[in-house]
Amino acid sequence: MKNILVTGGAGFIGSNYINYVLNKRDDIFIVNLDKLTYAGNLENLKSIENNRNYTFVKGDIVNGELVDYLFRKYNIEYVVNFAAESHVDRSILGSEVFYQSNVIGTNVLLEAGKRFGIKKFLQVSTDEVYGSLGPEGLFTEENQIVPNSPYSSSKAAADLMALSFYHTHGMPVVITRYSNNYGPYQFPEKLIPLMIINILNDKKLPVYGDGLNVRDWIYVLDHNKAVDLVLENGKIGNVYNIGASQEMKNIEIVKLILNILGKDESLIEYVKDRPGHDRRYAIDSSKIQNELGWTPDYKFEQAIQDTVKWYVENKNWWERIISGDYQKYYANLYGNK
Ligand code: NAD
Ligand code: TYD
Repeated sequence: MKNILVTGGAGFIGSNYINYVLNKRDDIFIVNLDKLTYAGNLENLKSIENNRNYTFVKGDIVNGELVDYLFRKYNIEYVVNFAAESHVDRSILGSEVFYQSNVIGTNVLLEAGKRFGIKKFLQVSTDEVYGSLGPEGLFTEENQIVPNSPYSSSKAAADLMALSFYHTHGMPVVITRYSNNYGPYQFPEKLIPLMIINILNDKKLPVYGDGLNVRDWIYVLDHNKAVDLVLENGKIGNVYNIGASQEMKNIEIVKLILNILGKDESLIEYVKDRPGHDRRYAIDSSKIQNELGWTPDYKFEQAIQDTVKWYVENKNWWERIISGDYQKYYANLYGNK
């Protein structure tokens, strides 16, 4: 049995990962430590909440005493650190919690991992640490780290801190730098779910700037597979870029979703650009493909249709979030703890 501390497991990617891995493997035990910020939602984990290889702990990765307690109690050997404030726009509105959770929180986990002699520490990072690309070229693992937003600067700090623990202490750290994920359970403030839900509610579709910024999209289920692989076989001290080579301009995505839902383009509204808006992200993932044999299984054309369908079929999930009912649900379940 491998005992894994998964942090931020009630968020979009973390919950997809936990659902995936517990359905696939019975040789791991997962402790999910999540603060349940606005982005954390235990409903994402309904199908595995009673799995005997799973336990949930509500708490903050910044809380060193709690982290130490969990390492000791559950004999933690592996960490997958998903926990983070993850939304660029929120980091522009206020950055403090980003540095608290993403930087200080990661430091707490690294220190605990060092003291408890962890077997592997997977720091979930992002391609946004590389800054912005011009029209040509791809990010490789050798690109300079030049983040532009408070969010990406906090992720870059955490990423480099984890690598420093490898270089200085020989700690078995691996880093994954992902491109933009999409799929079920993504909080409706990110581009794809926001557009789907606004269309379903007949609301305007706010496209920043000229709509020509490019993101490189990966289906979250392809991401899960890569996390599992890197945790298992990733070489310590290494960084792995992970993306599915699916570059899209924002406006193309919005029009595609309108098309899938059979709506015309009149809802599109160009709005003021995001300050410091990175123009283009595009990732070269040949290293993980060549060294670990990872390849994406899902084609964008199909996976985006599946994603739209999921939001259409799971209206209850996002309506509760939007109406604030999820907060009430949580307070009923846990009180004010
Ligand atoms: P999310 O915002 O949906 O979920 C984050 C989760 O972390 C939530 O459940 C939240 O409650 C929890 N959390 C936040 N602060 C915490 C703290 N201090 N202690 C404990 N739990 C805390 O984010 P996501 O999209 O699932 O992203 C997961 C990770 O992947 C993040 O580290 C993010 O930087 C990284 N990432 C995301 C993308 C993407 O496209 N979504 C791409 C590359 C990398
Ligand atoms: P987002 O989903 O916030 O991811 P990130 O900024 O981490 O890449 O945004 C994806 C792209 O979509 C980004 O270029 C900003 C743009 N965007 C809009 O045009 N309108 C919106 O309402 C949102 C949320 C994003």
